[in-house]
Amino acid sequence: MVEIIKKIKEMQKRAESFRRMGKRIGLVPTMGFLHEGHLSLIRNIRNDCDVLVVSIFVNPTQFGPGEDFKEYPRDFERDKKLINENGGDIIFAPDTEEIYGKNYLTFVKVRELSEIMCGRSRPTHFEGVTTIVAKLFNIVKPHIAIFGQKDAQQAVIIKKMVNDLNFDVEIKISPIVREKSGIAMSSRNTYLNNNEKEQALALYKSLLIAREEISKGERKSEGIKEKMKNCFEKYPDVKLEYIEIRDFDTLKDLNHLKGNVLIAVAAKIGCARLIDNIIVNV
Ligand code: PAF
Repeated sequence: MVEIIKKIKEMQKRAESFRRMGKRIGLVPTMGFLHEGHLSLIRNIRNDCDVLVVSIFVNPTQFGPGEDFKEYPRDFERDKKLINENGGDIIFAPDTEEIYGKNYLTFVKVRELSEIMCGRSRPTHFEGVTTIVAKLFNIVKPHIAIFGQKDAQQAVIIKKMVNDLNFDVEIKISPIVREKSGIAMSSRNTYLNNNEKEQALALYKSLLIAREEISKGERKSEGIKEKMKNCFEKYPDVKLEYIEIRDFDTLKDLNHLKGNVLIAVAAKIGCARLIDNIIVNV
């Protein structure tokens, strides 16, 4: 049966004793309300470690004013069952007081990379993410941690933080898991009604168009972006926020596709803000 730890000191003591026994610790950081995407992270890291810790913490510092921190879906009992069934050993589930205490002052920021793409509309978001992930690394002491490709910008930023701050943690990226319709799995899909779910397909359809254009030989970002934008015209309820074509390792803007290319979209549908992407090797 999966074990639940709520206190930082206890988690650190357990991590230290696993390390002394020569056991390899794996971490799946989550905000809970697990879906198939999270479960694939658990399954994809299971064979890379001896002890698998899944953290559940809805991190207030990565939500901006007016965002959905309060409404963010939570269901601890369901998460516990799913983690147990999928091979997690420990759930680290602290409360906000335990993590941020009183008079919390220290933040980790990866400059530049956190200011582009999603960082434009969510200026404090990535600082919240890198701060909690750095804290989780110091608490759970993992040898390896896994993140989803769906949050591609987050993954690149975390890798940069790990490199710049010399965290001794291997970062693994796991592919996007999609619903049958094609939309990327996300806890925020629960905000969508049936009509909005259909409209949400615009993101994936636009990415398929990009893939097709590339397979036909198109290499200019502008041409691909134009075709993708046209696709959104068929979905009047979708408010497109951005289409970006960037290098997947550095997030440098690409005019011409070359190497490992990230094609990413963000849009608002009703009260949900959704993101999706594909990575193509050109
Ligand atoms: O990707 C998420 O669910 C969150 O941003 C993370 C990495 C768990 C940090 O709160």
